[in-house]
Amino acid sequence: MAGMVEIENAEKTYDGGFQALKGVSLSIEEGEILALLGPNGAGKTTLISTICGITMPTGGSIRVGGHDVVRDFRAARSLVGLVPQELTLEPFETVWSAVRFSRGLFGAKRDDAYLDELLRRLSLYDKKHSQLQELSGGMKRRVLIAKALSHDPKVLFLDEPTAGVDVELRRDMWDIVAKLKETGVTIILTTHYIEEAEAMADRIGVISAGELLLVEKTTDLMARLGRKELRIALSAPIETVPEGLSDYDLRLEDEGETLIYTYDTQAERTGIARLIGSLSEAGLSIADVETTQSSLEEIFVGLVRKEDDEGDAA
Ligand SMILES: Nc1ncnc2c1ncn2[C@@H]1O[C@H](COP(=O)(O)OP(=O)(O)OP(=O)(O)O)[C@@H](O)[C@H]1O
Ligand SMILES: [Mg+2]
Repeated sequence: MAGMVEIENAEKTYDGGFQALKGVSLSIEEGEILALLGPNGAGKTTLISTICGITMPTGGSIRVGGHDVVRDFRAARSLVGLVPQELTLEPFETVWSAVRFSRGLFGAKRDDAYLDELLRRLSLYDKKHSQLQELSGGMKRRVLIAKALSHDPKVLFLDEPTAGVDVELRRDMWDIVAKLKETGVTIILTTHYIEEAEAMADRIGVISAGELLLVEKTTDLMARLGRKELRIALSAPIETVPEGLSDYDLRLEDEGETLIYTYDTQAERTGIARLIGSLSEAGLSIADVETTQSSLEEIFVGLVRKEDDEGDAA
């Protein structure tokens, strides 16, 4: 079955000649949440804009719900809603007129019952007649989401929905996204926060310099690339790692009280058993051990850095 969004070899070269997308291919299933991660200038907003029909791709093809975003622009556009990266709202407009106007822009039939329900879902109903300038930052974000959903789109794009918001509001946004998923909406979001992608997304795509470096299930990505740390609390602190342990990837922390061993979870042998033996040979006694999985953040930074190194070598 074809995905809700089908991107084949999409390219975008801006008028000045800058190539922001270098042949991106991606298929997004109906009801899926995909997070696009990438550094500033990677091409996330450009990719979203080409799918939404805001900028024209200069190569390849993009279909939403089977409609080509160039040839069949109107049909494709009616299926998508976008919460843009830049927040723009009219201060004196009311919540109600903002969402009604957005719906009208799509030429959708007036449906006050749907909009009332939407405002309720986003906990905005009691602010229905408030001016936008009277709302808190978090409520304004919700209004932007309500506007993007005003014409009942099948695919919602959230371009950095939580940039610059506090922790509480970010969690709030995660809840909203989870609830939207239950209604069957396909969601594509961009973020710089790896923990956010991890918390919300079914799959994660990493984009850098106009190329999609990988797309993988969030859980698979964690497992495949995850490195683990074994933290060994020593009974007595040491000043340096003993000579006999120089073969191991070890470092000392907590003023010599904790020895940290990094290993690859996918390796045939983790080396833990041998390490424990070597520790006792070196006369060290263990008070406690603990393992921690490296975060997706470290994985991501590693990936993008590797790409840079390869670029330099070329
Ligand atoms: N209208 C434009 N004309 C020319 N170049 C552009 C235009 N819009 C974006 N670019 C360039 O394309 C590249 C990708 O930009 P884009 O906004 O897609 O990045 P991004 O991944 O969304 O970054 P950020 O995380 O900062 O939002 C950048 O180098 C940017 O300068
Ligand atoms: Mg952007």
